[in-house]
Amino acid sequence: MPTKTALREPAVASAEKKLFAVQVLSWFDEHGRKHLPWQQNPTPYRVWVSEIMLQQTQVATATPFYERFMLRFPTLVSLAESSIDDVLAHWSGLGYYARARNLHRCAVRVQEEHNGELPTTLDALQDLPGIGRSTAAAILSLSSGQHQAILDGNVKRVLARYFAVEGWPGKKPVLDTLWCYSEQVTPAKRTGPFNQAMMDLGASLCARTKPQCGACPLSNSCRANLTTTQLEYPGKKPKKVIPVRSTNMLVLRNAENHLLMVQRPPTGIWGGLWSLPELGEISLADWLDGAELSAHDDAEVLARFRHTFSHYHLDIEVTAVNVENAGAERIMDCDAHVWYDGAELPGGVAAPISKILGLLTFE
Ligand code: ADE
Repeated sequence: MPTKTALREPAVASAEKKLFAVQVLSWFDEHGRKHLPWQQNPTPYRVWVSEIMLQQTQVATATPFYERFMLRFPTLVSLAESSIDDVLAHWSGLGYYARARNLHRCAVRVQEEHNGELPTTLDALQDLPGIGRSTAAAILSLSSGQHQAILDGNVKRVLARYFAVEGWPGKKPVLDTLWCYSEQVTPAKRTGPFNQAMMDLGASLCARTKPQCGACPLSNSCRANLTTTQLEYPGKKPKKVIPVRSTNMLVLRNAENHLLMVQRPPTGIWGGLWSLPELGEISLADWLDGAELSAHDDAEVLARFRHTFSHYHLDIEVTAVNVENAGAERIMDCDAHVWYDGAELPGGVAAPISKILGLLTFE
């Protein structure tokens, strides 16, 4: 990390920074993992591949994939010269395949632009596909001991708790504050082991839901531990405010106790699925008139509940009424309709509809 003359805010006292690093490193010496495959002969290439694999995958899952990957692609050049299909085949089972595509793309670029050697500066590494600031810093510190602070998801949690950083790290000011803390606590000596320890602490003791503060080397000064507010950090993403719509669905039963179901148009929500008729803007009496049905008795409200889509809440009221007559050829503007006898569904139904069907009996 280049020495900065500007004061970093919020500033951490020099004694606290030192103690933080000493405690984390002592914990690493005693408890840290030191025998993972990428920790043996930690070349930039080997560390890079491991960091990409570990971005969305736990160590235990990634390890056998890593070993097979390294046998097949022992060097960056061997990776660059392989086909993407071969790379994807060795990624198969790990998920998040964009990582494998970026890895291959990145290897090709490094071969073309950097003579087959991963660059050794933060900026040049970050310029490559799939390598963000924290991954670049992890590669440089773990492979070459460069003094670079990291901030992956696990480290964010450790620092947010330790310093009681309020707010969601997806917001720039919160992220900047966490980076600022990470830069300050990261020691110039033994940066690699320190960074590895921070990632391991975040992945193990400083767990999201059940932190084991009793075993944590930082517990004596961790603000969240001292105030028992661990679960408040890091702050959650604010919930999107989404609009509320409402609809009235009809449970119409004929004399044989069969239920009128309609097929939704192919586009829009629940496209092509079977559903219940909806009142829309008109009264029940007008709706039944339009459908050439007449009510046998009074309507009653069967259920009210909310179904939430990604972009709106739908408040559903279900009105039940027994009807006479067979109904019109065409019900409202629906593609098709059936009088459903409960035996076999005419096709797929959306979750709220199967919830309503679950309330009904058909004997
Ligand atoms: N997650 C990302 N990088 C990691 C590493 N080097 N060790 C453990 N977990 C990680």
